[in-house]
Amino acid sequence: MQTPSGHPVESTSAQRVVVLVSGLGSNLAALLAAHEDGSYGARVVGVVTDNPAAGALDLARDAGVASVVVSTKDFEDRAAWNVGLAEAVAVFQPDLVVLAGFMRILAPTFVRRFEGRIINTHPALLPSFPGAHGVRDALAHGVKVTGCTVHVVDDGVDTGPIIAQAAVPVLEDDDEPTLHERVKVAERALLVETVGRIARDGLFLAGRQAVIGR
Ligand code: GRF
Repeated sequence: MQTPSGHPVESTSAQRVVVLVSGLGSNLAALLAAHEDGSYGARVVGVVTDNPAAGALDLARDAGVASVVVSTKDFEDRAAWNVGLAEAVAVFQPDLVVLAGFMRILAPTFVRRFEGRIINTHPALLPSFPGAHGVRDALAHGVKVTGCTVHVVDDGVDTGPIIAQAAVPVLEDDDEPTLHERVKVAERALLVETVGRIARDGLFLAGRQAVIGR
């Protein structure tokens, strides 16, 4: 169902998703497109960014989704910023927090607050090539296949239980932009599929095993 302005009416059964993003937001755009379908099971109710210039803010506005900027510049230190970030996210009462190109490391206090409900998309096949340069590092290593990973966020950097992965071939003439673009195509599809499945069937964790549905 849609409002006259074209925005979907909030469904009481849809899982509430908050997306944290630092940049362009093509993954956010894919989630916003998916939630237009009432059977998707998840709905983006808020976008939170650390970057006042994030393209994601325009995407949120155009989709009629609330957004908040929580800039490190507005806080005394990283601990205070983490508290401010957690408060901004909590306002939306999320069932799921999705890091979609969020380029900051979250403090354990943030992770505890939404424990087991934070997922991240990473542009490499973890546990290979964690960190901020997953595509560059895969290329430099000379792998022939890389890909993307959706995983549960724990206190480490890209170390949490893996939920889903997709493989992407590395071509001989690839550079970082061409490979990242191909990875992002797979990443968007995997993230949309995974968030929808989690929303509809639930995410269950047992140690390092992350399973959707039971
Ligand atoms: C994605 O590849 C994400 O995994 C990485 O940065 C990219 C963000 O892309 N950390 P976008 O902002 O969703 O377009």
